[in-house]
Amino acid sequence: MSALRHLDAMTTSRLRLAAVTPANAGVLWRLMQEPKLREFQDVPRLGREEFARRVAQRPKQFQASAVGRFEWLVSLTEERRAIGWVSLRVGEQPRNSAEIGYSFLAQYRTQGYATEAVTALVEAAFTGSELTRIEACCLPENLASCRLLERIGFAYKKSQRNAAVVRGRAVDIVVYELTRERWQPAQSGSANTIVMPASTKPK
Ligand SMILES: CC(C)(COP(=O)(O)OP(=O)(O)OC[C@H]1O[C@@H](n2cnc3c(N)ncnc32)[C@H](O)[C@@H]1OP(=O)(O)O)[C@@H](O)C(=O)NCCC(=O)NCCS
Repeated sequence: MSALRHLDAMTTSRLRLAAVTPANAGVLWRLMQEPKLREFQDVPRLGREEFARRVAQRPKQFQASAVGRFEWLVSLTEERRAIGWVSLRVGEQPRNSAEIGYSFLAQYRTQGYATEAVTALVEAAFTGSELTRIEACCLPENLASCRLLERIGFAYKKSQRNAAVVRGRAVDIVVYELTRERWQPAQSGSANTIVMPASTKPK
């Protein structure tokens, strides 16, 4: 089973990634209602209270036996407003494998923010856990998403017919993967910093 350390917040040169908890679930829920997020993916249409209830049922923090869905709100360091979110879903099977997701508000795209946030998440996931592979799925026509994955070092793995439902219709997906062996850690001096709570810092 994956051994993810506690990972509450990350910072990059321009961004802050804060773990989604019951306390800030409403902020993510509001973000999920914004337009232009559902063209290529199925964002759950849950009421605010139901969404908060589901967040409360998730594992509280990354820890040794962490399995489940984890999300981080992404904000510009200079501002308080959330501009997107990234996610990591760690499954029991296959062992040591996880799937990432990411979504950014339309006005904050094509400025490198998504690349910066996903790079930080991948780095945190590989350095803070025993994950050996991270996957990502996208629709083949979601070119921005495919480009983002390739830019970060993900490789095409396979295509699957009718493997997801988007806006009520079965759609084909492309699966990308990044293995720990293939992953290139950021050079020393990278601006990315993982901030862990003092009580959980590795000795
Ligand atoms: C998928 C998604 C996150 C990609 O976002 P994005 O804006 O393309 O990604 P970035 O913010 O990293 O921007 C990268 C682009 O900005 C350019 N760019 C501009 N300034 C940059 C900078 N400082 N650093 C890096 N790239 C920069 C890059 O060249 C790149 O352009 P290109 O894709 O034409 O080569 C976004 O389209 C989105 O949220 N879509 C809706 C939800 C969705 O579909 N999620 C994915 C489901 S699989």
